[in-house]
Amino acid sequence: MHSITTLPDLPGRRVVVPGGTGAVGEGVVRSYLAAGADVLVPTRTQERAEEFRRVLGDAATDHLHLVVHDYTTFAGAEQLADEMQRRLGGIDDVVAPIGGWWAGKRLWEIDESDWQSAFVGLAAAHVAVLRAFLPRLNAGGAYTLIVGESALTPVPGSGLVSMEQAALLMMRQVLQAEAAGRQRVFALVLGPVRTRLADSGDPDRVSADQVGAVAVAVSAAAAVDGREILLRGRAEADQALALLQGAQPVSTGTVVAVSTMEAKNGRREDLVEVLAELAPQIRAEPGCLHYSVHRARGDADGPLLAIQVFASIEAFTQHSASVAAQIPRIAALLATSPVPPTLFEPVPQPAPTEGVGNGEKSHVC
Ligand SMILES: NC(=O)c1ccc[n+]([C@@H]2O[C@H](COP(=O)([O-])OP(=O)(O)OC[C@H]3O[C@@H](n4cnc5c(N)ncnc54)[C@H](OP(=O)(O)O)[C@@H]3O)[C@@H](O)[C@H]2O)c1
Repeated sequence: MHSITTLPDLPGRRVVVPGGTGAVGEGVVRSYLAAGADVLVPTRTQERAEEFRRVLGDAATDHLHLVVHDYTTFAGAEQLADEMQRRLGGIDDVVAPIGGWWAGKRLWEIDESDWQSAFVGLAAAHVAVLRAFLPRLNAGGAYTLIVGESALTPVPGSGLVSMEQAALLMMRQVLQAEAAGRQRVFALVLGPVRTRLADSGDPDRVSADQVGAVAVAVSAAAAVDGREILLRGRAEADQALALLQGAQPVSTGTVVAVSTMEAKNGRREDLVEVLAELAPQIRAEPGCLHYSVHRARGDADGPLLAIQVFASIEAFTQHSASVAAQIPRIAALLATSPVPPTLFEPVPQPAPTEGVGNGEKSHVC
């Protein structure tokens, strides 16, 4: 089960994994440790801390920071974030596999204690961690929620799980809209996972280590915008890894498309509106890693700059075909005829010298 293969190197990266002691969390913690990151795992009880250290065995190196602390309240999460900043000097990423399964009652049969523990308590823990940590993340870091596919599909008898997980997916969308361009926020949507607690042995199912490998790849792929990533089985996990690993700065296939657009007199707001309307569709296209629209600093009237990053030229070509129908709408708002975007590719990097990358952070410009 613990066969962590090709992971990017993340030495010096500081990652917090609330819920890391759990069945899925274990794979996340192992993967970041294997990538050389410093991993802070808060847990609410001493017993759980001791058990988790035993579970990890030799993987529990000096880079594991296991802290007994209640991170599930607003005040508790804030104290933890302060403590981590003092101890490790900053925070780069958060991965939150908080909470587990609940089953046994139809919605009209639940009592208040079910509601408090399976919905309110878990949702509050997620919000507590989010509000304490998200504003502190360094540029290029990622905030990654872990949820189950019950967020997308109702599971009779486990309605509270579906409702709470669906709320987390909407929370991610809200964050993406509110923190656009500043923080990358992801959700990994899991099917049944092979873990230390439940291993069906089915090779088509995703394992906890594979979930961890995807989380590490998300951290490493600083050019990839926040999104939902479906990991309902092994095949989707492999696909996600290929996309994320292909998007790392060293990738030779990445295409950056840059367009400048000058609006007709009085039509700039309309142009901004159309571009904003197209954004979710473009970001959801296969191979789209990034889409953003910019203006010159402090200039509310001047030209706009659209930057799009695609994993490959094939993905960019497909994108061009799928937005072709929108070009007349955009052209009608432009001062001059539209021209195709200028395409850029990464400049090949010289081989790294010894020590380079150690402790350095990647930055999204
Ligand atoms: N296991 C699967 O097959 C599977 C499949 C699909 C989706 N998922 C999703 O993956 C995430 C983690 O699931 P898991 O199976 O790893 O769960 P788990 O084994 O129960 O672990 C969850 C961890 O969350 C922490 N936690 C904090 N507040 C909690 C609360 N109020 N109730 C329960 N746990 C709380 C606990 O850590 P401390 O006690 O140490 O603080 C616990 O170790 C969940 O969102 C789940 O829906 C799991």
